[in-house]
Amino acid sequence: MFKTVGVLGLGHVGLPTAVGFAELGWWVIGTDSDSAKVASIASGRCPFYEPDLEPLLRKNLSEGRLRVTANVGEAVRESDILFVCVGTPQKPDGSPDLSQVEAVIRVVAENLNGYKLIVEKSTVPVQTAQWIKRTIQRYAGNNAEFDVASNPEFLREGTAVRDFFHPDRIVIGVESERAKEWLLELYKPLNAPIVVTDVNTAELIKHAANSFLALKISFINMIADLCEAVGADVTEVARGIGLDPRIGPHFLQAGIGYGGYCLPKDLKAFIHIAEEHKVDFSLLKEVEKINEARIDKFVRKVQQALWVLKDKILAIWGLAFKPNTDDIREAPSLKIIKRLLDEGANLRLYDPAAMENVKQVFPENPPRLVYCESAIEAATNAHAILIVTEWDEFKQMDWQKVKQAVALPIVVDGRNCLEPRTLREAGFEYYGIGRK
Ligand code: UGA
Repeated sequence: MFKTVGVLGLGHVGLPTAVGFAELGWWVIGTDSDSAKVASIASGRCPFYEPDLEPLLRKNLSEGRLRVTANVGEAVRESDILFVCVGTPQKPDGSPDLSQVEAVIRVVAENLNGYKLIVEKSTVPVQTAQWIKRTIQRYAGNNAEFDVASNPEFLREGTAVRDFFHPDRIVIGVESERAKEWLLELYKPLNAPIVVTDVNTAELIKHAANSFLALKISFINMIADLCEAVGADVTEVARGIGLDPRIGPHFLQAGIGYGGYCLPKDLKAFIHIAEEHKVDFSLLKEVEKINEARIDKFVRKVQQALWVLKDKILAIWGLAFKPNTDDIREAPSLKIIKRLLDEGANLRLYDPAAMENVKQVFPENPPRLVYCESAIEAATNAHAILIVTEWDEFKQMDWQKVKQAVALPIVVDGRNCLEPRTLREAGFEYYGIGRK
Protein backbone atom coordinates (compact mmCIF):
# COMPACT_ATOMS: atom_id res chain seq x y z
CA MET A 1 0.00 0.00 0.00
CA PHE A 2 1.06 3.62 -0.41
CA LYS A 3 2.71 5.76 2.27
CA THR A 4 2.89 9.34 1.03
CA VAL A 5 0.55 11.46 -1.01
CA GLY A 6 2.09 14.17 -3.20
CA VAL A 7 0.11 17.18 -4.34
CA LEU A 8 1.55 18.97 -7.37
CA GLY A 9 0.22 22.54 -7.55
CA LEU A 10 -1.03 24.37 -4.45
CA GLY A 11 -3.78 26.65 -5.75
CA HIS A 12 -7.52 26.69 -5.07
CA VAL A 13 -7.71 22.95 -5.78
CA GLY A 14 -4.33 21.65 -4.63
CA LEU A 15 -4.09 23.39 -1.26
CA PRO A 16 -7.50 22.28 0.11
CA THR A 17 -6.73 18.79 -1.25
CA ALA A 18 -3.31 18.60 0.43
CA VAL A 19 -4.63 19.96 3.74
CA GLY A 20 -7.70 17.70 3.51
CA PHE A 21 -5.71 14.48 2.99
CA ALA A 22 -3.37 15.44 5.84
CA GLU A 23 -6.34 16.06 8.13
CA LEU A 24 -7.65 12.59 7.20
CA GLY A 25 -4.40 11.24 8.63
CA TRP A 26 -2.25 10.67 5.52
CA TRP A 27 1.36 11.82 5.09
CA VAL A 28 1.23 14.57 2.52
CA ILE A 29 3.90 16.53 0.67
CA GLY A 30 2.73 19.53 -1.34
CA THR A 31 4.72 21.36 -3.98
CA ASP A 32 4.39 24.28 -6.34
CA SER A 33 6.79 25.86 -8.82
CA ASP A 34 5.95 29.28 -7.32
CA SER A 35 8.44 29.44 -4.45
CA ALA A 36 6.88 32.57 -2.91
CA LYS A 37 3.59 30.70 -2.66
CA VAL A 38 5.33 27.71 -1.08
CA ALA A 39 7.07 30.00 1.45
CA SER A 40 3.76 31.58 2.41
CA ILE A 41 2.09 28.17 2.84
CA ALA A 42 5.08 26.82 4.81
CA SER A 43 4.66 29.68 7.27
CA GLY A 44 0.98 28.82 7.70
CA ARG A 45 -0.43 31.58 5.49
CA CYS A 46 -2.99 30.67 2.84
CA PRO A 47 -2.15 32.69 -0.32
CA PHE A 48 -5.86 33.25 -1.11
CA TYR A 49 -9.01 33.67 0.95
CA GLU A 50 -10.80 30.38 1.60
CA PRO A 51 -12.88 30.04 4.78
CA ASP A 52 -11.57 27.52 7.37
CA LEU A 53 -8.51 26.56 5.31
CA GLU A 54 -5.80 28.48 7.16
CA PRO A 55 -6.39 27.04 10.67
CA LEU A 56 -6.41 23.54 9.21
CA LEU A 57 -3.23 24.26 7.24
CA ARG A 58 -1.47 25.43 10.42
CA LYS A 59 -2.67 22.45 12.42
CA ASN A 60 -1.42 19.91 9.88
CA LEU A 61 1.90 21.69 9.35
CA SER A 62 2.56 21.80 13.08
CA GLU A 63 1.51 18.18 13.58
CA GLY A 64 3.93 17.21 10.79
CA ARG A 65 1.49 15.38 8.52
CA LEU A 66 1.81 18.07 5.86
CA ARG A 67 5.09 19.31 4.41
CA VAL A 68 5.59 21.70 1.52
CA THR A 69 8.55 22.18 -0.78
CA ALA A 70 9.35 24.24 -3.86
CA ASN A 71 11.37 21.30 -5.16
CA VAL A 72 8.85 19.49 -7.37
CA GLY A 73 11.26 16.62 -8.09
CA GLU A 74 11.73 15.96 -4.38
CA ALA A 75 7.96 15.78 -3.85
CA VAL A 76 7.69 13.31 -6.73
CA ARG A 77 10.47 11.08 -5.40
CA GLU A 78 8.99 11.03 -1.90
CA SER A 79 5.42 10.21 -2.91
CA ASP A 80 3.60 7.08 -4.02
CA ILE A 81 0.41 8.79 -5.19
CA LEU A 82 0.75 12.07 -7.09
CA PHE A 83 -2.21 14.40 -7.49
CA VAL A 84 -1.85 16.74 -10.44
CA CYS A 85 -3.49 20.00 -9.36
CA VAL A 86 -1.80 22.54 -11.64
CA GLY A 87 -3.72 25.21 -13.58
CA THR A 88 -5.38 24.50 -16.91
CA PRO A 89 -6.14 28.02 -18.15
CA GLN A 90 -7.95 28.85 -21.34
CA LYS A 91 -6.33 29.53 -24.70
CA PRO A 92 -7.78 32.24 -26.97
CA ASP A 93 -9.72 29.61 -28.99
CA GLY A 94 -11.44 28.31 -25.82
CA SER A 95 -9.41 25.10 -25.64
CA PRO A 96 -7.51 24.40 -22.41
CA ASP A 97 -3.84 25.22 -22.17
CA LEU A 98 -2.27 22.01 -20.86
CA SER A 99 1.32 23.27 -20.76
CA GLN A 100 1.45 23.24 -16.93
CA VAL A 101 0.21 19.64 -16.92
CA GLU A 102 2.83 18.63 -19.47
CA ALA A 103 5.60 20.44 -17.56
CA VAL A 104 4.79 18.76 -14.26
CA ILE A 105 4.43 15.34 -15.91
CA ARG A 106 7.91 15.72 -17.37
CA VAL A 107 9.25 16.38 -13.87
CA VAL A 108 7.40 13.26 -12.71
CA ALA A 109 9.01 11.25 -15.54
CA GLU A 110 12.48 12.54 -14.66
CA ASN A 111 12.05 11.61 -10.99
CA LEU A 112 10.39 8.21 -11.17
CA ASN A 113 11.99 6.01 -8.51
CA GLY A 114 9.55 3.12 -8.42
CA TYR A 115 5.81 2.67 -9.03
CA LYS A 116 3.72 5.85 -8.90
CA LEU A 117 0.00 6.38 -9.19
CA ILE A 118 -0.51 9.65 -11.06
CA VAL A 119 -3.96 11.12 -10.50
CA GLU A 120 -5.44 13.97 -12.54
CA LYS A 121 -7.37 16.30 -10.29
CA SER A 122 -7.18 19.48 -12.36
CA THR A 123 -10.00 19.74 -14.86
CA VAL A 124 -8.63 18.35 -18.12
CA PRO A 125 -10.23 17.34 -21.41
CA VAL A 126 -11.22 13.73 -21.95
CA GLN A 127 -8.26 11.62 -23.16
CA THR A 128 -5.65 13.70 -21.32
CA ALA A 129 -4.65 10.58 -19.35
CA GLN A 130 -3.56 8.98 -22.63
CA TRP A 131 -1.23 11.91 -23.24
CA ILE A 132 0.13 11.73 -19.71
CA LYS A 133 0.93 8.05 -20.24
CA ARG A 134 2.64 8.68 -23.54
CA THR A 135 4.64 11.58 -22.11
CA ILE A 136 5.93 9.54 -19.19
CA GLN A 137 6.89 6.68 -21.47
CA ARG A 138 8.66 9.08 -23.81
CA TYR A 139 10.73 10.67 -21.05
CA ALA A 140 11.14 7.73 -18.63
CA GLY A 141 11.13 4.81 -21.06
CA ASN A 142 8.72 1.97 -21.67
CA ASN A 143 9.69 0.12 -18.50
CA ALA A 144 8.54 2.95 -16.24
CA GLU A 145 6.16 1.66 -13.59
CA PHE A 146 3.08 3.83 -13.13
CA ASP A 147 -0.67 4.12 -13.54
CA VAL A 148 -2.68 7.15 -14.50
CA ALA A 149 -6.08 7.72 -12.88
CA SER A 150 -8.66 10.49 -12.94
CA ASN A 151 -10.25 11.83 -9.77
CA PRO A 152 -11.98 15.08 -10.70
CA GLU A 153 -12.50 17.68 -8.01
CA PHE A 154 -15.90 19.10 -7.16
CA LEU A 155 -14.70 21.69 -4.64
CA ARG A 156 -16.44 25.04 -4.76
CA GLU A 157 -14.53 28.15 -3.83
CA GLY A 158 -15.80 29.56 -0.57
CA THR A 159 -16.84 26.11 0.69
CA ALA A 160 -13.84 24.05 -0.46
CA VAL A 161 -13.02 22.71 3.02
CA ARG A 162 -16.59 21.61 3.68
CA ASP A 163 -16.83 20.12 0.19
CA PHE A 164 -13.63 18.14 0.74
CA PHE A 165 -14.86 16.51 3.93
CA HIS A 166 -18.49 16.09 2.86
CA PRO A 167 -18.47 15.30 -0.85
CA ASP A 168 -21.76 14.28 -2.41
CA ARG A 169 -19.77 11.81 -4.50
CA ILE A 170 -16.22 10.82 -5.31
CA VAL A 171 -15.44 9.90 -8.91
CA ILE A 172 -12.53 7.60 -9.63
CA GLY A 173 -11.45 6.66 -13.15
CA VAL A 174 -8.93 3.82 -13.12
CA GLU A 175 -7.25 1.31 -15.39
CA SER A 176 -5.74 -1.09 -12.85
CA GLU A 177 -6.75 -2.92 -9.70
CA ARG A 178 -3.88 -1.34 -7.77
CA ALA A 179 -5.00 2.17 -8.71
CA LYS A 180 -8.55 1.37 -7.67
CA GLU A 181 -7.50 -0.17 -4.35
CA TRP A 182 -5.23 2.72 -3.43
CA LEU A 183 -7.80 5.40 -4.22
CA LEU A 184 -10.57 3.54 -2.37
CA GLU A 185 -8.26 3.25 0.64
CA LEU A 186 -7.30 6.92 0.45
CA TYR A 187 -10.93 8.06 0.51
CA LYS A 188 -12.19 5.43 2.97
CA PRO A 189 -12.35 7.86 5.93
CA LEU A 190 -14.82 10.06 4.02
CA ASN A 191 -17.55 7.48 3.76
CA ALA A 192 -19.02 9.03 0.58
CA PRO A 193 -20.64 7.35 -2.44
CA ILE A 194 -17.88 6.41 -4.88
CA VAL A 195 -18.35 6.11 -8.63
CA VAL A 196 -15.64 3.90 -10.12
CA THR A 197 -15.32 4.11 -13.90
CA ASP A 198 -12.74 4.04 -16.66
CA VAL A 199 -10.49 7.07 -17.02
CA ASN A 200 -12.18 8.65 -20.08
CA THR A 201 -15.57 8.52 -18.36
CA ALA A 202 -14.25 10.13 -15.16
CA GLU A 203 -12.66 12.94 -17.18
CA LEU A 204 -15.93 13.51 -19.00
CA ILE A 205 -17.99 13.54 -15.78
CA LYS A 206 -16.20 16.68 -14.59
CA HIS A 207 -16.89 18.71 -17.72
CA ALA A 208 -20.43 17.37 -17.93
CA ALA A 209 -21.11 18.41 -14.30
CA ASN A 210 -19.89 21.98 -14.70
CA SER A 211 -21.63 22.36 -18.07
CA PHE A 212 -24.90 21.16 -16.59
CA LEU A 213 -24.61 23.63 -13.70
CA ALA A 214 -24.02 26.44 -16.21
CA LEU A 215 -27.01 25.25 -18.20
CA LYS A 216 -29.24 25.39 -15.12
CA ILE A 217 -28.15 28.97 -14.43
CA SER A 218 -28.75 30.14 -18.00
CA PHE A 219 -32.11 28.37 -18.02
CA ILE A 220 -33.32 30.16 -14.89
CA ASN A 221 -31.98 33.45 -16.25
CA MET A 222 -34.16 33.09 -19.34
CA ILE A 223 -37.12 32.27 -17.09
CA ALA A 224 -36.30 35.49 -15.22
CA ASP A 225 -36.55 37.47 -18.46
CA LEU A 226 -39.87 35.85 -19.22
CA CYS A 227 -41.09 36.58 -15.69
CA GLU A 228 -40.26 40.24 -16.17
CA ALA A 229 -42.13 40.32 -19.46
CA VAL A 230 -45.31 38.76 -18.07
CA GLY A 231 -45.27 39.99 -14.47
CA ALA A 232 -44.29 36.76 -12.67
CA ASP A 233 -41.64 36.10 -10.01
CA VAL A 234 -38.62 33.96 -10.88
CA THR A 235 -37.74 33.13 -7.25
CA GLU A 236 -41.17 31.52 -6.87
CA VAL A 237 -40.83 29.71 -10.21
CA ALA A 238 -37.45 28.38 -9.01
CA ARG A 239 -39.04 27.13 -5.80
CA GLY A 240 -41.98 25.68 -7.67
CA ILE A 241 -39.81 23.67 -10.05
CA GLY A 242 -36.93 23.02 -7.64
CA LEU A 243 -39.07 21.00 -5.24
CA ASP A 244 -39.37 18.40 -8.00
CA PRO A 245 -36.48 16.06 -7.10
CA ARG A 246 -35.85 15.46 -10.80
CA ILE A 247 -34.95 19.16 -11.11
CA GLY A 248 -33.61 20.00 -7.62
CA PRO A 249 -33.50 23.38 -5.86
CA HIS A 250 -29.85 24.31 -6.42
CA PHE A 251 -28.33 26.51 -9.11
CA LEU A 252 -31.66 28.14 -9.89
CA GLN A 253 -30.73 31.57 -8.62
CA ALA A 254 -31.31 34.06 -11.42
CA GLY A 255 -29.14 37.15 -11.73
CA ILE A 256 -26.15 38.53 -13.56
CA GLY A 257 -24.88 35.12 -14.64
CA TYR A 258 -22.09 32.75 -13.69
CA GLY A 259 -18.42 33.72 -13.42
CA GLY A 260 -15.31 32.36 -11.75
CA TYR A 261 -12.38 30.32 -12.93
CA CYS A 262 -14.32 27.12 -13.58
CA LEU A 263 -17.77 27.34 -15.17
CA PRO A 264 -16.95 29.75 -18.05
CA LYS A 265 -13.66 28.03 -18.87
CA ASP A 266 -14.98 24.49 -18.56
CA LEU A 267 -17.99 25.24 -20.71
CA LYS A 268 -15.75 26.63 -23.45
CA ALA A 269 -13.45 23.61 -23.18
CA PHE A 270 -16.39 21.20 -23.40
CA ILE A 271 -17.75 22.97 -26.48
CA HIS A 272 -14.28 22.68 -27.99
CA ILE A 273 -14.02 18.96 -27.16
CA ALA A 274 -17.44 18.29 -28.72
CA GLU A 275 -16.42 20.16 -31.88
CA GLU A 276 -13.15 18.26 -32.10
CA HIS A 277 -15.12 15.01 -31.99
CA LYS A 278 -17.68 16.30 -34.51
CA VAL A 279 -20.54 16.30 -31.98
CA ASP A 280 -22.97 19.19 -32.40
CA PHE A 281 -23.37 20.49 -28.83
CA SER A 282 -24.75 23.88 -29.84
CA LEU A 283 -26.99 23.73 -26.76
CA LEU A 284 -23.93 24.74 -24.72
CA LYS A 285 -23.11 27.63 -27.06
CA GLU A 286 -26.57 28.98 -26.32
CA VAL A 287 -25.91 28.63 -22.56
CA GLU A 288 -22.80 30.71 -23.01
CA LYS A 289 -24.54 33.32 -25.16
CA ILE A 290 -27.30 33.74 -22.57
CA ASN A 291 -24.70 34.19 -19.84
CA GLU A 292 -22.78 36.83 -21.77
CA ALA A 293 -25.99 38.82 -22.33
CA ARG A 294 -26.66 39.08 -18.58
CA ILE A 295 -24.21 41.96 -18.13
CA ASP A 296 -25.93 44.02 -20.80
CA LYS A 297 -29.28 43.21 -19.28
CA PHE A 298 -28.09 44.36 -15.84
CA VAL A 299 -26.64 47.64 -17.15
CA ARG A 300 -29.91 48.31 -18.97
CA LYS A 301 -31.76 47.70 -15.72
CA VAL A 302 -29.60 50.31 -13.99
CA GLN A 303 -30.38 52.68 -16.86
CA GLN A 304 -34.10 51.98 -16.49
CA ALA A 305 -33.82 52.85 -12.81
CA LEU A 306 -31.77 56.03 -13.24
CA TRP A 307 -32.27 57.08 -16.90
CA VAL A 308 -28.93 58.86 -17.54
CA LEU A 309 -25.85 57.30 -15.94
CA LYS A 310 -23.33 60.00 -16.77
CA ASP A 311 -22.07 61.64 -13.54
CA LYS A 312 -24.36 59.52 -11.37
CA ILE A 313 -22.77 58.09 -8.23
CA LEU A 314 -23.24 54.33 -8.07
CA ALA A 315 -22.34 52.16 -5.08
CA ILE A 316 -21.22 48.69 -6.11
CA TRP A 317 -21.63 46.16 -3.33
CA GLY A 318 -19.72 42.97 -4.05
CA LEU A 319 -16.85 42.38 -6.46
CA ALA A 320 -15.85 38.71 -5.96
CA PHE A 321 -17.36 36.29 -8.49
CA LYS A 322 -19.37 34.84 -5.60
CA PRO A 323 -19.48 35.28 -1.80
CA ASN A 324 -16.84 33.92 0.60
CA THR A 325 -13.94 34.23 -1.80
CA ASP A 326 -11.56 36.99 -2.90
CA ASP A 327 -11.41 35.50 -6.40
CA ILE A 328 -12.32 37.88 -9.23
CA ARG A 329 -11.38 35.70 -12.18
CA GLU A 330 -14.17 36.07 -14.77
CA ALA A 331 -16.18 37.95 -12.15
CA PRO A 332 -19.26 39.70 -13.61
CA SER A 333 -18.26 42.75 -11.51
CA LEU A 334 -15.29 43.50 -13.79
CA LYS A 335 -17.44 43.73 -16.90
CA ILE A 336 -20.07 45.74 -15.04
CA ILE A 337 -17.48 48.24 -13.76
CA LYS A 338 -16.08 48.70 -17.25
CA ARG A 339 -19.52 49.25 -18.78
CA LEU A 340 -20.56 51.74 -16.12
CA LEU A 341 -17.30 53.68 -16.42
CA ASP A 342 -17.86 53.83 -20.20
CA GLU A 343 -21.28 55.32 -19.47
CA GLY A 344 -19.59 58.07 -17.43
CA ALA A 345 -20.83 57.00 -13.98
CA ASN A 346 -18.80 57.56 -10.81
CA LEU A 347 -18.33 54.32 -8.89
CA ARG A 348 -17.88 53.65 -5.19
CA LEU A 349 -16.77 50.05 -4.72
CA TYR A 350 -16.92 47.79 -1.69
CA ASP A 351 -16.30 44.07 -1.16
CA PRO A 352 -15.45 42.32 2.12
CA ALA A 353 -12.57 40.32 0.57
CA ALA A 354 -11.81 41.07 -3.08
CA MET A 355 -10.91 44.79 -3.17
CA GLU A 356 -7.14 44.33 -3.31
CA ASN A 357 -7.54 42.08 -6.35
CA VAL A 358 -9.84 44.51 -8.15
CA LYS A 359 -7.43 47.39 -7.47
CA GLN A 360 -4.90 45.56 -9.65
CA VAL A 361 -7.35 45.70 -12.56
CA PHE A 362 -8.94 49.11 -11.92
CA PRO A 363 -6.60 51.37 -9.90
CA GLU A 364 -8.32 53.96 -7.73
CA ASN A 365 -9.13 57.10 -9.70
CA PRO A 366 -11.26 59.56 -7.72
CA PRO A 367 -13.95 60.65 -8.27
CA ARG A 368 -14.59 58.17 -11.11
CA LEU A 369 -13.56 55.10 -9.11
CA VAL A 370 -13.27 55.03 -5.32
CA TYR A 371 -12.65 52.05 -3.04
CA CYS A 372 -14.53 52.21 0.26
CA GLU A 373 -13.95 50.65 3.66
CA SER A 374 -17.56 49.61 4.22
CA ALA A 375 -20.87 49.11 2.43
CA ILE A 376 -22.27 52.24 4.11
CA GLU A 377 -19.28 54.31 3.03
CA ALA A 378 -19.79 53.10 -0.55
CA ALA A 379 -23.48 54.04 -0.34
CA THR A 380 -22.73 57.59 0.81
CA ASN A 381 -24.34 60.11 -1.59
CA ALA A 382 -25.03 57.31 -4.09
CA HIS A 383 -27.87 57.62 -6.59
CA ALA A 384 -28.26 53.84 -6.54
CA ILE A 385 -26.79 50.78 -4.85
CA LEU A 386 -26.01 47.88 -7.15
CA ILE A 387 -25.72 44.43 -5.55
CA VAL A 388 -23.24 42.41 -7.60
CA THR A 389 -22.23 39.67 -5.11
CA GLU A 390 -24.61 38.29 -2.49
CA TRP A 391 -22.41 38.51 0.62
CA ASP A 392 -24.33 37.83 3.85
CA GLU A 393 -23.45 41.26 5.19
CA PHE A 394 -25.59 42.89 2.48
CA LYS A 395 -28.57 40.73 3.38
CA GLN A 396 -28.31 41.88 7.00
CA MET A 397 -28.08 45.64 6.38
CA ASP A 398 -29.83 48.22 8.50
CA TRP A 399 -31.75 49.82 5.64
CA GLN A 400 -32.77 52.87 7.65
CA LYS A 401 -29.10 53.63 8.17
CA VAL A 402 -28.41 53.06 4.47
CA LYS A 403 -31.26 55.39 3.58
CA GLN A 404 -29.70 58.20 5.57
CA ALA A 405 -26.43 57.76 3.67
CA VAL A 406 -27.67 57.66 0.06
CA ALA A 407 -28.67 60.51 -2.24
CA LEU A 408 -31.52 58.47 -3.74
CA PRO A 409 -33.02 55.31 -2.18
CA ILE A 410 -32.66 52.97 -5.17
CA VAL A 411 -31.35 49.39 -5.08
CA VAL A 412 -30.68 47.24 -8.15
CA ASP A 413 -30.20 43.70 -6.86
CA GLY A 414 -28.27 41.69 -9.45
CA ARG A 415 -28.39 38.55 -7.29
CA ASN A 416 -32.00 38.61 -6.02
CA CYS A 417 -30.58 38.30 -2.52
CA LEU A 418 -32.77 40.91 -0.81
CA GLU A 419 -36.44 40.84 0.13
CA PRO A 420 -38.26 43.36 -2.13
CA ARG A 421 -40.92 43.96 0.53
CA THR A 422 -38.36 44.81 3.24
CA LEU A 423 -36.66 47.28 0.93
CA ARG A 424 -39.91 48.90 -0.19
CA GLU A 425 -41.13 49.20 3.38
CA ALA A 426 -37.87 50.94 4.21
CA GLY A 427 -38.66 53.44 1.45
CA PHE A 428 -36.41 52.10 -1.31
CA GLU A 429 -37.18 51.63 -4.98
CA TYR A 430 -36.19 47.97 -5.52
CA TYR A 431 -35.24 46.39 -8.84
CA GLY A 432 -34.52 42.67 -8.84
CA ILE A 433 -34.02 40.23 -11.71
CA GLY A 434 -37.28 38.69 -12.88
CA ARG A 435 -39.16 39.74 -9.77
CA LYS A 436 -42.22 41.86 -9.19
C1 UGA B 1 -17.73 25.22 -9.63
C2 UGA B 1 -18.55 23.95 -9.31
O1 UGA B 1 -19.72 24.30 -8.59
C3 UGA B 1 -17.71 22.98 -8.46
O2 UGA B 1 -18.44 21.77 -8.25
C4 UGA B 1 -16.41 22.66 -9.21
O3 UGA B 1 -15.57 21.80 -8.46
C5 UGA B 1 -15.65 23.95 -9.48
O4 UGA B 1 -16.49 24.84 -10.26
C6 UGA B 1 -14.42 23.62 -10.27
O5 UGA B 1 -14.55 23.14 -11.41
O6 UGA B 1 -13.32 23.71 -9.73
P1 UGA B 1 -17.11 27.45 -8.29
O7 UGA B 1 -16.54 27.95 -9.57
O8 UGA B 1 -16.33 27.61 -7.04
O9 UGA B 1 -17.46 25.88 -8.40
O10 UGA B 1 -18.47 28.25 -8.08
P2 UGA B 1 -20.04 27.92 -8.16
O11 UGA B 1 -20.59 27.83 -6.81
O12 UGA B 1 -20.31 26.79 -9.09
O13 UGA B 1 -20.58 29.27 -8.83
C7 UGA B 1 -20.21 29.62 -10.15
C8 UGA B 1 -20.89 30.89 -10.60
O14 UGA B 1 -22.29 30.65 -10.81
C9 UGA B 1 -20.80 32.05 -9.61
O15 UGA B 1 -20.51 33.24 -10.31
C10 UGA B 1 -22.19 32.10 -9.00
O16 UGA B 1 -22.53 33.39 -8.57
C11 UGA B 1 -23.04 31.66 -10.18
N1 UGA B 1 -24.35 31.08 -9.78
C12 UGA B 1 -24.39 29.95 -9.03
C13 UGA B 1 -25.52 31.68 -10.21
O17 UGA B 1 -25.51 32.71 -10.92
N2 UGA B 1 -26.72 31.10 -9.86
C14 UGA B 1 -26.80 29.98 -9.11
O18 UGA B 1 -27.93 29.51 -8.84
C15 UGA B 1 -25.61 29.38 -8.68
